[in-house]
Amino acid sequence: MNIILIGFMGVGKSAVGHLLASELELNFLDTDELIEKTEGRKIGEIFALDGEPYFRQVETETLKTLQDYDNFVLSTGGGVVLKEENVALLKSIGPVVLLKADSDIIYGRIKNEKHRPLLEVADPKAEIVKILESRDPYYSKAADYAVDTSKLTPEAAAKEIIEWQRSKSN
Ligand code: S3P
Repeated sequence: MNIILIGFMGVGKSAVGHLLASELELNFLDTDELIEKTEGRKIGEIFALDGEPYFRQVETETLKTLQDYDNFVLSTGGGVVLKEENVALLKSIGPVVLLKADSDIIYGRIKNEKHRPLLEVADPKAEIVKILESRDPYYSKAADYAVDTSKLTPEAAAKEIIEWQRSKSN
């Protein structure tokens, strides 16, 4: 069994993903971490030196390498849903769970972090609102299930996903 987590930066994919993996005795994988490992450099460096289109290409190649594996929770980069090809690849891996949160909550969670190239702009808060709005249809279309983490602890969000997963397999 696999579970895929999608959603914007700062919605808790990593924290919830680690909890899900340990509760369900699955491995935890993260597309950004896999990309950094293959490329031997940080996401910020890839964006700065080779640009977003190159990053997106590597992201798709990374999803292809996961097709033959099983028993993992996959946390994905926030922009993975932008390519239809990626969504098809994700759906062939496992059920896709969308984590959502309000823009002000997202901003509060990530404002002190330095590794998000898309938010290195003069007004990151406005940028979050703008990108969230443009991505919303992509997230909704890709998701089999959605959890709003705005008012939930990572533990509570993980519990909700496990309950959904169990109700689905019964
Ligand atoms: C991105 C989100 C990042 C990372 C890259 C692009 C995006 O991942 O993939 O900086 O387009 O939203 P997280 O969502 O894990 O921060």
